[in-house]
Amino acid sequence: MDPDTDAAQVANLTHGARHVAIIMDGNGRWAKRKHLPRSLGHKKGVETVRNIVRIAGEVGIEALTLYAFSSENWRRPADEVSDLMGLLRQYIQSDIDEFDENGVRLKIIGNYKALDNDIVDLIDNALARTAGNDRMTLAIALNYGAQDEMLRAVQTIAAAVKRGEVEPEHINVSHMSGALDTAGLPPLDLLIRTSGELRLSNFLLWQAAYSELYFTETLWPDFDKSELLRALESFGNRERRFGGR
Ligand code: IPE
Ligand code: IPE
Ligand code: MG
Repeated sequence: MDPDTDAAQVANLTHGARHVAIIMDGNGRWAKRKHLPRSLGHKKGVETVRNIVRIAGEVGIEALTLYAFSSENWRRPADEVSDLMGLLRQYIQSDIDEFDENGVRLKIIGNYKALDNDIVDLIDNALARTAGNDRMTLAIALNYGAQDEMLRAVQTIAAAVKRGEVEPEHINVSHMSGALDTAGLPPLDLLIRTSGELRLSNFLLWQAAYSELYFTETLWPDFDKSELLRALESFGNRERRFGGR
């Protein structure tokens, strides 16, 4: 833990946010500004992931969900998709020990089984190895799209209806939440997007129903501890009403 993050501060730094999600955007623009190839922007983006995962754990966030590859990102040129998959391979292999040391439990949201077989194996091993860790859950969204996630949840529920386990008119919010990939995570408190884009890009559409939203112009490779603390502080200043008064 950073010497400047003492125990008393830890309790306050999250401002009560248990589950934070981040749309990590702007790697390409970061590289472009520096006249570097996009691949180096993604590489620097992985360093930011490593740093922010560490800090989120120190600050006391219970669950951190990171949008790493969307179901729409397959539309990118093949060489960029392959760069991203290569970085993912490397990241899982190089950081799994640190997850264990820091009590990080890995979770994947999205249809990751459609990724290359060797990546699926690496992920399955990492999931099994970190399953008992309980300091923080790191949920990585891979081949994730909220519409795809909701469709798969509806299919799961429809199958239960077909088996006679639930009546259609009894399907409720808990059935839906429980059938989503995020089942078991705390409610989403804060959703951050970097790089100045003001959209959700098919991320956590169900879960964000009452989340607080935070947008920053900072590009993902430049996102750091002070930015995360600023977002949490902003969250702390929000009045959450959930439709009440
Ligand atoms: C985010 O950075 C990384 C992924 C979507 C995988 P981008 O690659 O989208 O960067 P910009 O938006 O082009 O700057
Ligand atoms: C969203 O960023 C997906 C991830 C961060 C993984 P994009 O860069 O793909 O989003 P759009 O295309 O600008 O909406
Ligand atoms: Mg982008």
